[in-house]
Amino acid sequence: MISQQFHNPVMLKEVLENLAVRDGEIYVDGTFGAGGYSSAILQKANCKLIALDRDISVEKFANNLAKNFGERFIFKNKKFSEILEAVGEVGVEEVDGMVLDIGVSSMQLDERERGFSFDSEEKLDMRMDRTQSLSAFEVVNHESEENLARIIKEFGEEMKAKIIAKKIVAIRKEHPIKNCSDLAKIVRSFYYGYHKTDPATKTFQALRIFVNQELDELKIALEASVKLLKKGGRLVVVSFHSLEDKIVKDFLKEQAGLSQSYSRYEPEHALPKNVKKNFQIITKSALCPSKEEVDLNPRSRSAKMRVAIKL
Ligand SMILES: C[S@@+](CC[C@H](N)C(=O)[O-])C[C@H]1O[C@@H](n2cnc3c(N)ncnc32)[C@H](O)[C@@H]1O
Repeated sequence: MISQQFHNPVMLKEVLENLAVRDGEIYVDGTFGAGGYSSAILQKANCKLIALDRDISVEKFANNLAKNFGERFIFKNKKFSEILEAVGEVGVEEVDGMVLDIGVSSMQLDERERGFSFDSEEKLDMRMDRTQSLSAFEVVNHESEENLARIIKEFGEEMKAKIIAKKIVAIRKEHPIKNCSDLAKIVRSFYYGYHKTDPATKTFQALRIFVNQELDELKIALEASVKLLKKGGRLVVVSFHSLEDKIVKDFLKEQAGLSQSYSRYEPEHALPKNVKKNFQIITKSALCPSKEEVDLNPRSRSAKMRVAIKL
């Protein structure tokens, strides 16, 4: 296998099984990253693959794959909201499978100067696409207190969002909040004692999701899959937190003609017959990584995979 440095593709075995990769078919990898999935798909069968990533810094990995797989591999530096255009540009109308490995990559988190990490002394940034103007620095230093509280609550599910936002606004009146560690200190000041995960995690997650419009992008990618996938084509989505997984789960239920049940004790209700069903759900409950994978790669522990077949 061609190794891509720095990165362990999460649930790779399950992705390959569920995409059912075959010779002569065309696939889309919407989240290329270090190319772990793309490389494995291209090695598994004599197929063609179109990969997308909004972060141009992954181009070096894409060039590597292009050398090895020639015309079977195409890379586009585009985001989900441009996915239909990206696939259309290469003259493809429908594909046999689409995979999404949602969220930030290990490389983006580990490169300190990208400003994603709460233990970094670098400037707050968090842009996956560094040509975009909005960064975490702008949000933290210029959004209103009300908006900051809403962002931190909605995208971080942080119970202390209001007091965190209030303190951010008080401090930035004195001086800008520049570095990741400055923001992390503000959040941690509201937490006492031992915490298994750093108290700053939720606020950082919230800012990252907001800066990159991650949830809206995910919704657009899922809608695009309805247009892109052939009948029998497979959609595989790996997500890393409950907000993303809920969007995938609700989308698939709706597209499979099942309403969302209101309580886990209530059965799912079938929708009226005239609602078009676009997908058959393969994974009634989300698949999770094996214990062996989590032991080898602890970052995989919160992964959830959902799979559906286009009708
Ligand atoms: C978790 S990594 C993917 C890792 C990849 N599966 C691998 O095996 O190397 C997610 C990647 O998706 C990209 N990404 C996230 N949201 C995106 C979007 N809306 N459009 C395009 N790329 C996106 C990120 O820049 C990142 O490189």
